[in-house]
Amino acid sequence: MFGDQKVSFSGVQPSGNLTIGNYLGALRNFSAYSEAYKTFYCVVDEHAITVRQVPAELRRRTYETLALYMACGLDPEKNTLYVQSMVHEHAELSWILNCFTMFGELSRMTQFKDKSAKHADNINAGLFTYPVLMASDILLYQTDVVPVGVDQKQHVELCRDIATRFNQVYPDTFTIPEPIVAKQGRKIMSLAEPEKKMSKSDENPNAVVYILDDRDTIIRKFKRAVTDSESEIRYDEAAKPGVSNLITIYSCFTGKTVEEIEREFDGKGYGDFKAAVGEACADALAPVQAEFNRRLADKAGLEAQMKKGAEEASWYARRTLSKVQKKLGFVQIR
Ligand code: TRP
Repeated sequence: MFGDQKVSFSGVQPSGNLTIGNYLGALRNFSAYSEAYKTFYCVVDEHAITVRQVPAELRRRTYETLALYMACGLDPEKNTLYVQSMVHEHAELSWILNCFTMFGELSRMTQFKDKSAKHADNINAGLFTYPVLMASDILLYQTDVVPVGVDQKQHVELCRDIATRFNQVYPDTFTIPEPIVAKQGRKIMSLAEPEKKMSKSDENPNAVVYILDDRDTIIRKFKRAVTDSESEIRYDEAAKPGVSNLITIYSCFTGKTVEEIEREFDGKGYGDFKAAVGEACADALAPVQAEFNRRLADKAGLEAQMKKGAEEASWYARRTLSKVQKKLGFVQIR
């Protein structure tokens, strides 16, 4: 709570292409929050540098991620859309919260374990303290709810622990946030290995559908999706993971229930079904892609939004940070 406003906060990294898993599990749901909450959506470029980035690409993707936020229906008049590195309070609070986070807690984070295995030549301290920066993002705005994909739930739980610990020493400092994981789209699996989650960094391009893939590519990828040797379109995660994943995706994009889908394709073959899923996905993404391209072409507009968003966010961030500094005993001279 910030004053009498309930707050929702989320962030997306400007690294790599986002997938339909990111879209269905997170981005698509973001705009619904602006009715009941004061909403902040941040492009987290400081998180991105925990792995090596090519500067020109990081810069380009920062613009793209902001354009994508808007293309996913986030109206900049109703939501604060901004870039993390433009609000210096994030990094400052992060240092403070480092001193309230335990080595053991960070060692247990699954994402750290995965990423340090993957980037064994660059296990830097930033990769390790990544969740502390994320906690700072969230706590600076006195956030009540954090809409995230399921892979980030553990980080939000750690954020709660950090905030609770801080509040025990310095009462009434932070709101304790709640993670919200969308039920739909929670589990979008790889099209090539449907036992594995769809991941933006998968090396097999046919395994992943990106939000910005063109229509033909989307349809082709779904045509190649791995299924099974039966012919029945039936939801059964254990026996038929490929078909079940396609049913989930079709359901997410069309709003139809599993039963409706099973009935719709009763007696039809996998070929027809895959084509229908591809069409539904391409149809749903077309307006998002058109709006993305329109926004991205207006660089000055995006920069104006970055400036406005950072000013709005700073106002809130400054208040929380100075409250924290005062509680800690840092001298404040006005
Ligand atoms: N770590 C998140 C991810 O990779 C991104 C993120 C950074 C975030 N800060 C956040 C998400 C704060 C929610 C709230 O997806």
